[in-house]
Amino acid sequence: MNKTVEQTLLDRRSIRRYEREAIPEADLDFIREAIRNTPTSYNGQQFSVIEIADQTLKEQLAELVRQKQFKTSNRVFVFLSDFNKISVAARAKGLEMPPFNDTADGLIVGTVDAALAMMSAIAAAESHGLGTCPIGYARTVDPAAISELLGLPQGVYLVCALAVGVPREVPQMKPKQPRELVIFREKYGVDNMAERLLDYDRTIREYHLHRETNASDADWISEMLGYYREGMDYQMLDALHKRGYALKK
Ligand SMILES: Cc1cc2nc3c(=O)[nH]c(=O)nc-3n(C[C@H](O)[C@H](O)[C@H](O)COP(=O)(O)O)c2cc1C
Repeated sequence: MNKTVEQTLLDRRSIRRYEREAIPEADLDFIREAIRNTPTSYNGQQFSVIEIADQTLKEQLAELVRQKQFKTSNRVFVFLSDFNKISVAARAKGLEMPPFNDTADGLIVGTVDAALAMMSAIAAAESHGLGTCPIGYARTVDPAAISELLGLPQGVYLVCALAVGVPREVPQMKPKQPRELVIFREKYGVDNMAERLLDYDRTIREYHLHRETNASDADWISEMLGYYREGMDYQMLDALHKRGYALKK
């Protein structure tokens, strides 16, 4: 059953447990078309997507990335920043491709395009009653191995993967920051920002304490700092260089 736009956007939550059943082909086609119609910088469409249905490959990815959604979801979409296609096109026309992918803005352009494409897929899938979960660890855990497994050429790097399937759970909604912390009026900032953030920190701790699964006393701030500390060990600059994003300016 299709959801309204309001239900699609406001009831969305990440789904990490899926039924075994297949996704109807019409739903997959809708997701593919939504991906294709993503707005992109310059209409350059600096992204591509790999759709993965093969269970053996999904299991390899689950093991490599240590995220079980890869194997339990029916379908995985891998969102890539892609400057290979335009390079191929330029070569085919005998034109020289400027090394835009070696600039910070090139990296941003490809990353934003791929992220928006993922959001198109999320909205499309959710609106048809499917569940989704982004998997950012696909980017960070072992970029060299995953690039090899998926045959990524130079100029292409994995931004994020997305698991899609028929939901087997309806987890509680995660409380988000209140509107005044997210949407500022006319200029950056809000009064009493620190206090409001500490309020939100307590809201998340309460949510963690009382949630139906994985209850804990983790607060939001410490949890985030923990993730960032972990992220300090990722070798993303090196990984990006190896993918053909040399970040020179
Ligand atoms: C870019 C990105 C990467 C993410 N990576 C992962 C991941 O690797 N594993 C996971 O279980 N959830 C992942 N998530 C899901 C977030 O944990 C989730 O969106 C967040 O906790 C908010 O919960 P909600 O989606 O239910 O509102 C990711 C989300 C985004 C947007």
